[in-house]
Amino acid sequence: MKQPDADANPPVDGSELIRFDHVSKRFGSNTVLDNLDFSVDAGKHVTLIGPSGSGKTTILRLLMTLLKPDEGTITVAGDQLFPASEKEVREVRKKIGMVFQQFNLFPNMKVLRNITEAPVTVLGLSKDEAEQRARELLELVGLADKCDAYPTQLSGGQQQRVAIARALAMRPQVLLLDEVTSALDPELVAGVLDVLRDIARTTDITMLCVTHEMNFARDISDQVLMFDSGHVIESGPPEKIFGDPEHERTREFLGAVL
Ligand SMILES: Nc1ncnc2c1ncn2[C@@H]1O[C@H](COP(=O)(O)OP(=O)(O)OP(=O)(O)O)[C@@H](O)[C@H]1O
Ligand SMILES: [Mg+2]
Repeated sequence: MKQPDADANPPVDGSELIRFDHVSKRFGSNTVLDNLDFSVDAGKHVTLIGPSGSGKTTILRLLMTLLKPDEGTITVAGDQLFPASEKEVREVRKKIGMVFQQFNLFPNMKVLRNITEAPVTVLGLSKDEAEQRARELLELVGLADKCDAYPTQLSGGQQQRVAIARALAMRPQVLLLDEVTSALDPELVAGVLDVLRDIARTTDITMLCVTHEMNFARDISDQVLMFDSGHVIESGPPEKIFGDPEHERTREFLGAVL
């Protein structure tokens, strides 16, 4: 299946969708990203792993244009993020969906409206079109019966699944996921990961995922990037990174988390 109502101009599978070229990012004297290079091809599922504080969220925030790099260039579907006019930035942001650890649903809106709000106001969809899309996505995340609930009436796992549906409703070319299960009670984690596995399996959306769930990473990833001290220190298919890592630092890290 294509992503429900996939973008009118989807990137060709296998072409480069995201590229970081010599990107550095500093906070004061703290160099978080140091001359970082990596790319993600369209349609692929790439997972970033690495120790706390190593800069994984910073990478996603740069992609969301919430931060600016100090050096280097970042491109998404061929468009450079910095420098870019406000209009160009708005266009690039439409290509990117993000789900955070904290789901931040609009508390005063029912589930359906949480999902239709941005497609109507940002993409200009009619209310009917947006609602139809929202219902399909709620089906996909297993919450077809929750259209009329308010976020506080849902469990954390259900809220996170709504947040995933809300991100997909914008028909992004790439979905960024930042430790989306780490704020959940343990018994709710599996349901959310199952939904993401389904999305990975049944849609053609590109995924860039930060996770501490190593089994999940192993299942869905085409490529795993081990990240430390501002660089990708090792990358490869999950069998290689988890089964036979080359770098001592990777072995150490996996030894601590597995
Ligand atoms: N806005 C900010 N101002 C100052 N320092 C920041 C800011 N955002 C992040 N940092 C610092 O940058 C470094 C990387 O942070 P980042 O959130 O990217 O790490 P992470 O790999 O996502 O860690 P975790 O696994 O704990 O989520 C940390 O040392 C952090 O303190
Ligand atoms: Mg983080």
